[in-house]
Amino acid sequence: MGLKILLTGASGLVGGSFAPLATAAGHQVTGIVGRWSHTLPGLARQVALDLQDEAAVRALVREERPEVIVNAAAISEPAQCDAEPEKAWRLNVALPGYLAQVAVETGARLIHLSTEQVFDGARPPYAIGDPRRAINRYAQHKLEAEDRVLVAAQTAVLRLPLLMGNSPGVRRSVHERLLMLWADGKAAKLYLDEIRQTCTADSVAAALVELCARPDLRGALHWAGAEPISRLDIGRRVRTHFGLTEAQAPIIAVSRRDDPAAQATRQADLSLDLAPLARELRVRPETFDEALAKLRLPAWWRTQT
Ligand SMILES: NC(=O)c1ccc[n+]([C@@H]2O[C@H](COP(=O)([O-])OP(=O)(O)OC[C@H]3O[C@@H](n4cnc5c(N)ncnc54)[C@H](OP(=O)(O)O)[C@@H]3O)[C@@H](O)[C@H]2O)c1
Repeated sequence: MGLKILLTGASGLVGGSFAPLATAAGHQVTGIVGRWSHTLPGLARQVALDLQDEAAVRALVREERPEVIVNAAAISEPAQCDAEPEKAWRLNVALPGYLAQVAVETGARLIHLSTEQVFDGARPPYAIGDPRRAINRYAQHKLEAEDRVLVAAQTAVLRLPLLMGNSPGVRRSVHERLLMLWADGKAAKLYLDEIRQTCTADSVAAALVELCARPDLRGALHWAGAEPISRLDIGRRVRTHFGLTEAQAPIIAVSRRDDPAAQATRQADLSLDLAPLARELRVRPETFDEALAKLRLPAWWRTQT
């Protein structure tokens, strides 16, 4: 029997991958979007709602009575959190808090998405119980949200790495952003000593679909790729994967050592220990080559270049 799932952030990178996969697995997904105005695949119902409106969110959950709420909505870019700190706090901290409350009230299980950035990057690899220390506003918000949602015993918090993939808006993921820079004729400045265990949103979606049906897996959990890799290598391998030349896709290697601002706000190495999920789930953590193979060139790239 499929589950009734309420998904926030249905138009985002993760939400856009999750809904079709969950529907294919037999679940019934209601997806909430914000500004997105097109019909998304894989949704039984699509609802446009400003998630800052606490009363409307609570009312929708009471009306829908989902068995699982997947919270994939956020202001997920650190720079945007700094530009609009109050709005970011409402989406990244207040929203998970009232979703957790209304989940308890209605008997739903909340799966909340968090980030590797709750760790400071100085002592990798990070296990789920390791001390968290936020070094930027986005990370501080996500850390505070974890504390708000984990008061409910049935909640799972899934910490994710830097994500690749094909986003519904085709301008959100790592390779889509690199392509945007290159389409503008700019070089990508990439840190050779910033390490991430990236994976695709499709890999996250597969883990999430299994997690929805595993209420025994609760508390903080980690999902990521199989291999730590530097931002510089990510960029170079994306360029090679799409057959682009150095002239079409310029990359400048930079080091954290030469950049005090980066040292203060960007984590050096966010490699994650994937226990216990990697042994509990059927889906395997993706290798970087497997992730690359899933990436598509957005249609706008062909028209702009
Ligand atoms: N992307 C990453 O590299 C990454 C890494 C680690 C963790 N995470 C976490 O994973 C989760 C999903 O991230 P993502 O990258 O998929 O996010 P994303 O692509 O930036 O999408 C954000 C989603 O939130 C929705 N949203 C934002 N403000 C809203 C509002 N006021 N009302 C309604 N909806 C609103 C957006 O809807 P509209 O576009 O329709 O407005 C969109 O669907 C987040 O919790 C993020 O912190 C992401």
